[in-house]
Amino acid sequence: MSGDRLVEVTAEGPIGLVTLRREKALNALSSALMGELVEAIADLEGRADLRAVIVTGAGTKAFAAGADIAEMQEMEAEQALRLSVRGADIGRAMERSRLIWIAAVNGFALGGGCELAMCCDFIYASTTAKFGQPEVKLGVIPGFGGTQRLARRVGIGKAIELIATGDIIGADEALRIGLVDSLYSPAELMEQARGVAQRIAASGPLAVAAAKRVIHDGRALPLDQAIALEGEGFAGLFGTADQREGMAAFLGKRPAAFQGK
Ligand code: CAA
Repeated sequence: MSGDRLVEVTAEGPIGLVTLRREKALNALSSALMGELVEAIADLEGRADLRAVIVTGAGTKAFAAGADIAEMQEMEAEQALRLSVRGADIGRAMERSRLIWIAAVNGFALGGGCELAMCCDFIYASTTAKFGQPEVKLGVIPGFGGTQRLARRVGIGKAIELIATGDIIGADEALRIGLVDSLYSPAELMEQARGVAQRIAASGPLAVAAAKRVIHDGRALPLDQAIALEGEGFAGLFGTADQREGMAAFLGKRPAAFQGK
């Protein structure tokens, strides 16, 4: 891939690696970068060899410092809505993806950067990471799903506190409130993200995709319907080659060789 890409996509076996590469602007999400991110998500989704994707930022300072403020400064409402819809589409594509998306937050995750991390299925962060939704300090609000996903992750009270103050919090506090799922030293972060991605990749691919789908889709449903959705997902895996293989491997005391079928 050429060196001037803003979103670098590489693969290591079953793991895709997406690196936001706009280090001088703290990997701020310009429209060009977002365009490449849309392409990257579609490309990765189409690669049958992949099971999980790690998203990180180039350099040691930032995951992403938000949407590009210079680009937004002169926007009118119509353009801002287009930008927000684009951000929403990116997030929904990641949530609807069969792949497990893992954020490896290596520095500032602010505004749209924090929102992008929350679009991932879970968030690993370095102990030096910092999180926040500082949009109100710019006279706007989060526009890539942050009001909704932050409230779902940390509860309404913390979400309103963070969004209304624009406070930037450290990694420990982010872990404490449940914004981040696990913390590692900067040196360990990528190794830990690769490790969890490998463990996901070793699991039944149809089962992993079904679990993710049921968890996401179930959130919007009353509990009875959500549990029924789980039942359908559970039952739908029986009779697949992977279910037969997974159970035969367990009973045969050998590792399973899943095919995603
Ligand atoms: N957009 C555009 N450029 C940005 C940027 C952003 N979100 N964040 C940082 N940059 C640029 C800076 O302008 C600066 O560029 P120059 O070197 O050309 O001056 C470069 O990145 C380095 O940044 P700083 O000099 O500011 O670095 P710092 O160490 O002093 O501060 C920081 C780091 C606290 C993260 C600070 O850069 C900052 O506050 N950034 C903005 C964070 C923010 O407000 N994000 C929300 C954006 S709005 C949004 O995301 C809307 C939405 O929900 C969709």
